[in-house]
Parts: sequence; structure tokens; C-alpha cells
Amino acid sequence: MLASIAVLSLLALFVLSWLRGKGSRESGLPPGPPTLPIIGNIHQLPTKFAYLRFTEWSKQYGGIFSLKLASQTIIVISSPRLIRDFMDKRSGSMGDRPPSRLPDITTNGLSLPLASGPVWKSLRRAVQQLLTREACSRHMPIQQAEATQLMYDLLKQPENFFNHIQRQMISIMLSTVFGFRSPRYADSAASIFFSQFNTNGRLYLNQALIPQSTLYLHWNIIDQREKLGLTRDMVGYLGGVCIEGGSATTAAYLHRFVLCISCYPDVQARAQREIDDLIGSNRVPTSQDIEHLPYIQAIIKEVHRFYTSGPLGLPHATTIDETIDGYFIPKGSTVFMNIYGIYHSEELCERPEVFNPERYLSSEFGTKPNADTTGLRSDLHFGSGRRICPGNHLANSSIIMNIMNLLWGFDFTIADAANRDRHIPIRPEDFTTGIAIGPKPFKCNIRPRSEKHAALICEAYAQARPTLSMFEQELTPSEQKFVEDW
Ligand code: HEM
Repeated sequence: MLASIAVLSLLALFVLSWLRGKGSRESGLPPGPPTLPIIGNIHQLPTKFAYLRFTEWSKQYGGIFSLKLASQTIIVISSPRLIRDFMDKRSGSMGDRPPSRLPDITTNGLSLPLASGPVWKSLRRAVQQLLTREACSRHMPIQQAEATQLMYDLLKQPENFFNHIQRQMISIMLSTVFGFRSPRYADSAASIFFSQFNTNGRLYLNQALIPQSTLYLHWNIIDQREKLGLTRDMVGYLGGVCIEGGSATTAAYLHRFVLCISCYPDVQARAQREIDDLIGSNRVPTSQDIEHLPYIQAIIKEVHRFYTSGPLGLPHATTIDETIDGYFIPKGSTVFMNIYGIYHSEELCERPEVFNPERYLSSEFGTKPNADTTGLRSDLHFGSGRRICPGNHLANSSIIMNIMNLLWGFDFTIADAANRDRHIPIRPEDFTTGIAIGPKPFKCNIRPRSEKHAALICEAYAQARPTLSMFEQELTPSEQKFVEDW
């Protein structure tokens, strides 16, 4: 009896000390906020806007800190040098994703952004082939035509600007991946696509929706399926990921642009002076104009900096034990790059909370004089290492075309701004939560800058119609009517 009590007591002591060890920060890990037994830092993690808390912690604990979520180790990097040395240069051991049960169940582990190992390698090779700079240059005509339709949509129905932007981005992705477009927001192709994607993620295998005649991009991948090591399911999911990842992020960027430009009317006025000096009101902008528009280039960078789509990117995971700056990072750690924290670092930027494109005119990365820019690059918002966003060329060209068009053609004022000259604060509560963030729908007055601009937009839309119609071979009767009447 006594012996069994002793054994039980020993066992209880062992379990207790094992549990007490759980949640505590192992020696050698980067510093971080104090932990509680068993739960670690779970109680301190906010349910929303984690990037704001991570940024506060980075000020306290430095460019690399750690958190414990029970036995799981989280590493947060807010130093451009460490991102370069660790996430970019040692990308081989940093390029995994943390295991995530739900997406694995819903997509059989075939969703590229979350995939690992050989499946990820095959999908990544294929997507890179789809989205090289050269491949993207072939999509310029449809991107340009879609950007023209956005101007026309805004002319006709400015109050629906939020949806018009989303339609355009879905339509570009549908055209580039499947070869057919979505001419209006409540369009059957787009809505079927998303509803099916959300319910079973298998729409992409539905050959009935893919017009054989016009497919050129995704089709290349289907042709080379075996060479690329892709199964039929993998090809399907690849299309879905491009549509989903490509449209939501770029649309959120343009929503943020409209919000920033409406809240900072002096920035808008200066950009319009620059574009008027170069282009005037006798023609619409073309993609070549951007290199002569330094202030507008600066606005594009500042929108990324001010409120980046993915403030923490997507989480990476380590595949082996690593050391960095004397710290031990165990295999299987989840690693976040704190893009928001870097873009809003007071050590790097002058008044980071202010939307001020001018900062990019005085320095390449928008940093203040004498800031330590080691490792900084201008595309941190696209992620790092071998997981860096493969859609960056496509996204950049859409963003450039749309921003030139919108600044050239329209005036934007936030609907409830009593005083047009006052900067309106942009608060985190105005944004959606999640991995990729954008502003919640907001009201904005959008007016053409003159009758001449409006007439040119109508003319440009008429000229864009033949390009658009190349992707309209399979419209429903109601879509056809919409296109004819619009
Ligand atoms: C403004 C627009 C965009 C932003 C800010 C953005 C940002 C990002 C970020 C931060 C990541 C994670 C990178 C990492 O893990 O280090 C990512 C991954 C990805 N993005 Fe984008 N993206 C944009 C547009 C696009 C477009 C247009 C496409 C597709 C055509 C796309 C497809 C993907 C895919 C497939 C991945 C997963 C890559 C992988 O895990 O290997 N993105 N993106």
C-alpha cells in the first residue's frame, strides 16, 4: 500500500514538474515576455491585430524575440538584417510552414501557400512558371483593359467603388489563369468560383467551366503536368490559389490606396500636379509613364509601408535546429517576419504613423538619415526566401496601372470629411483582421476631374472592348446583356 502511494506520489511529482516545464522558455531561445507554466504566453496573445502587440514587444525585446504557446516556440523577427541572414539566406531550413490541420483536411495538403515538402516544390515550380516577369508581360493587354474598365465603372457607379475594385482583380486572375473574365461584380463565373472554392475547393477540376478555346496559361501547366510532377488535383488547387491569393491581396491594396489618398488630400493634389505635367488631359496614362512619375512611385511604396496587406506575412517553420546571433532556434519553430513592425519602426522611419510618400524621394527605403538599413529591401511586403510571393510581378503591374489611372482621372474625398484639408486618422479598427488585411468598406466621393477626363475614359473603354471581348467567349445571356448595355 505504502509502496504504491510512494510510486503514485513520485509519478505525480514527475507529471507536475513536466507540466511546469511546459510553457517555459528554454535556455538559449531569444528573449521574450515572461511565461506562465503550461500555457507560456498564450494569455498575452491578442485575438486581433497581433502585429501591433508584436511591434510593441519588438521595441522591448529587440529585433528577434520568442514566445511560447505551451510547448510550441514562436519566433518573431523585426530586424531587416536578421530577415536577410536568417529567412532569405537560410531559406532552405526556413521555408516550411507550420502544420495546420484545417487546411490539410479541406485541401488534402495541396494548397500551395500552406504546403510542405515535395508537394510544395512541384506546385511552386509550376506557379513560378506561370508568373515569371516574361509570362506576366503577356498579360499586360488584359490588365490594361481591365484597369480601363475600372475607370469606366467608377464613372458610371462611383458609390460601388469597393466592389468594382474587387471585380477587376478577380477578373484579371480569371483571365490570366483560365482565359475568361468576369465583366460585372455579381457575375456568375466569379460567384460560382468562390462559392465552390469555399465549399469544396475543387471547382478547378470542373473542366466545364474552363473554356478550351481561350485557355493559355493554366493550360500550359496542364500540358506539362507530368514533367512538373503535378497530379490532377494539384493543378486544380493551383488555379484556385492563384485566383484567391491574387485577387484578395491586390484588391485590398487598392482599397487602402483609395483610403490613404482620400484622407491625405495634399498628397493627392501633389500627385495630380505631377501626372498633369506629364500627361495632361488629352490622353490616358500608359504603363511606360510610371518611370517619369517619381512622386507616384513613392505613393505606391508608401501605401505598402503604411498599411501592408500581410503585416506578419505568412508564418514560416524551421526544418532543422538553427542558431542566429547566438540564439538557438529549435526545429519546428514557427517564424513570423514582422513586416509591419519594420515599416513602422521609429529607428528607421521619421514619424512612421504619418502617410508621407515624400520619405521615398529622399531615401531608397523611405528611411531617415543615418538609419541602419542593413538588409532592408523594398519588397519586404512580399515575404522572404524561397516562399516569397510568386505573384509580385503581376501584382505590381496591376497596382501601377490602376494608381496612375485613378490619380489621373478622379478626385477622391472621404465622404464624412468636414474639412477637406485636414488629415483623417487611419486606425487599426478601420481594417479587417486576419493574415491579409484591407480596410472595411468605407464611403468615398469619387468624381471625374473634368468633363474632358470623363470623355477620354469613355473613349478608352470603347477602345479596350476588343481586348476585353477576347475573354468573353462564354458569357451567360445576362452577362452578354450587361456588356452590351454598360
Ligand atoms: C499586393 C499584392 C500581394 C501581396 C502584398 C502578397 C503578399 C504575399 C506574402 C507576404 C506571401 C507570403 C510569403 C512568405 O511566406 O514569405 C505571399 C505568398 C503567396 N502569394 Fe502573394 N501577394 C500579393 C499578390 C499575389 C498575387 C497576384 C498572386 C498570384 C497570382 C499571389 C500568390 C501567392 C502565392 C501562391 C503565395 C504562396 C507562396 C508559397 O508559399 O510558396 N500573391 N504573398
